[in-house]
Amino acid sequence: MTTMTSTATALEVTGLRAGFGEQTVLHGIDLAVPDGEVTGIFGLNGAGKSVLLKVIAGVVPAWDGRVVLGDVDVTGLAPERRVGLGMAHVPQGRQVFPSLSVEQNIRVGAYTLRRRDKSRYAANLDRVYATFPRLAERRSQPAGTLSGGEQAMLAVGRALVNDPKIVLIDEPSAGLAPAIVEQLLEVLLDVRRLGLTMLLVEQNIRFGLRLSDSACLLQKGRIVYSGTTAELDQDRLAGYLGVGRLLGSDLAAGLGKQPAKKARNARPRS
Ligand SMILES: Nc1ncnc2c1ncn2[C@@H]1O[C@H](COP(=O)(O)OP(=O)(O)OP(=O)(O)O)[C@@H](O)[C@H]1O
Ligand SMILES: [Mg+2]
Repeated sequence: MTTMTSTATALEVTGLRAGFGEQTVLHGIDLAVPDGEVTGIFGLNGAGKSVLLKVIAGVVPAWDGRVVLGDVDVTGLAPERRVGLGMAHVPQGRQVFPSLSVEQNIRVGAYTLRRRDKSRYAANLDRVYATFPRLAERRSQPAGTLSGGEQAMLAVGRALVNDPKIVLIDEPSAGLAPAIVEQLLEVLLDVRRLGLTMLLVEQNIRFGLRLSDSACLLQKGRIVYSGTTAELDQDRLAGYLGVGRLLGSDLAAGLGKQPAKKARNARPRS
């Protein structure tokens, strides 16, 4: 994991613009992720959250602006070069290879590292198995037969095996039952305690706020709010999202406040 220095910036994005054909999706994003911290990106469907992570990872090209990893400008680099420099991307929907075993999935994620440094790969693999004992138990099982929660763990484990400086993680809780979301949250909180730097996209506000040190709100390809989660104002966040009524209970739980009466029985979205 990354060694923490309080002021260093793990990732800096400036003036990022990107889109598809005629459609601009990101209208100039500025964002800094401090070393050892978790930055959460929140926003509605279609706001551009996944595209933002993809442009940072190099899967979608930037039209304009810069992506700087540590002190290296990676804007023009291919995705695998960014992986080699310490960037890991856990895409939305996890995308494990269903017919490959758990261990083969992890090997695929680490193929550059294995070529470069076999013994480090072995040590990192042991550490991933120590973090996710369920993956160790199921190392020979085809990934397609894992439960949703286990597949989420595999997707995260596959990213961690490269010992990345930063992990870009897109909606890890999506599609999981509430109990499994809780388990995944505990695992990610553990990983965070080890000092891992993350840029996290979440629709599950409660989950996302529990993990994040700071939060950015993305609305139609623009960041309309950013601040530490400690100083986040519930109503303002809800107002920006334009769905305060729906998210009321989630926000309150995430911020450790009393839920609004109306939303008291609403279940956290997952
Ligand atoms: N490959 C693509 N080609 C064309 N348009 C795309 C492509 N990928 C994304 N878009 C468009 O970019 C916009 C932002 O998409 P994005 O996937 O980033 O949304 P999101 O914020 O991640 O939403 P969700 O919460 O539903 O995952 C959408 O309008 C989407 O249709
Ligand atoms: Mg998305």
